[in-house]
Amino acid sequence: MNREELIKKLPKAELHLHIEGSFEPELMFEIAQRNNIAIRFKNIMEVKEAYNFHNLQSFLDIYYEGAAVLINEQDFYDLTMAYLKRCKEDNVVHTEIFFDPQTHTDRGVPFEVVFNGIQRALTVAETEWGITSHLIMCFLRHLSEESAFKTLKESLPFKKHIIAVGLDSGEVGHPPQKFQRVFEAAMEEGFLTVAHAGEEGPASYIWEALDLLKVKRIDHGVRAMEDQKLLARIIKEEIPLTVCPLSNLKLCVFKKLTDHNLKKMLKLGVRVTINSDDPAYFGGYLNQNFIETAKALDLNSDEIKTIAINSFQGSFMDENEKTKWISHIRNLPTT
Ligand code: HPA
Ligand code: ZN
Repeated sequence: MNREELIKKLPKAELHLHIEGSFEPELMFEIAQRNNIAIRFKNIMEVKEAYNFHNLQSFLDIYYEGAAVLINEQDFYDLTMAYLKRCKEDNVVHTEIFFDPQTHTDRGVPFEVVFNGIQRALTVAETEWGITSHLIMCFLRHLSEESAFKTLKESLPFKKHIIAVGLDSGEVGHPPQKFQRVFEAAMEEGFLTVAHAGEEGPASYIWEALDLLKVKRIDHGVRAMEDQKLLARIIKEEIPLTVCPLSNLKLCVFKKLTDHNLKKMLKLGVRVTINSDDPAYFGGYLNQNFIETAKALDLNSDEIKTIAINSFQGSFMDENEKTKWISHIRNLPTT
């Protein structure tokens, strides 16, 4: 079996996926039209040409613009369903999805409209295709602590369906420390915690995410390599990193995929995973991320299997389910 066949065959969990980042231009046009919203692009070609980013902020500007056509529960359902269909195609059997309530509530779309649309699709995918999932609610770090507290309050009626809170949007200048109190309040309500850190921001933001926000995983975390003490801790405490190689390439975190430090971290014993982040914007869903990374870094079949095992190990699924998938992967022939 070649590398690509193995990747396709492996059951995988996705741990870093922004549902708003799976909004394909075709669906964006369809939803804009039915909601009577004008978008500045004439056609899909024009949209794709605009997806030329030089850093995180240049992407975020266009990502928030795209999300602004989502108004009704059906829109959030269609968005989520389209992503889950891709999961089925890629043999992603479990996914932990980020959503950004403030991107919508700040435009007057009620929290429950967003939540209900997403949740309804998750239920259908589990019933029809056996794809399991969890939801992670992210606070936008460029907004205030007060706005995050308001969002936390709005989420409480739905908290049994939201496993964790996270932190995303523009990293530099908005350290984890800004959200320490709201994360403490979220933990008191029973939420687990994760945070984007060390994508563009320094290694010190990863320390803060661990020490102040008590995160169970670091989203991205590639800049941990700049701090040996931090790296040692991440290895010792088995803290998963949800790495997104094609995102890193598109946002110029690494110049070339062959420069990516994923393999170095893997060899050092870091629990790295591969994820798609915002696949509609960065040119590939999970398998594409896996295949291109494996090719660029020359990952062998043991390394590929380890990354797939890490995705279950690092997930929030219950221990029995984890064990089941991990032994399935271990027993899968590679030749
Ligand atoms: N980083 C920060 N915020 C985001 C990202 C990301 O990769 N994707 C969507 N929002
Ligand atoms: Zn992300």
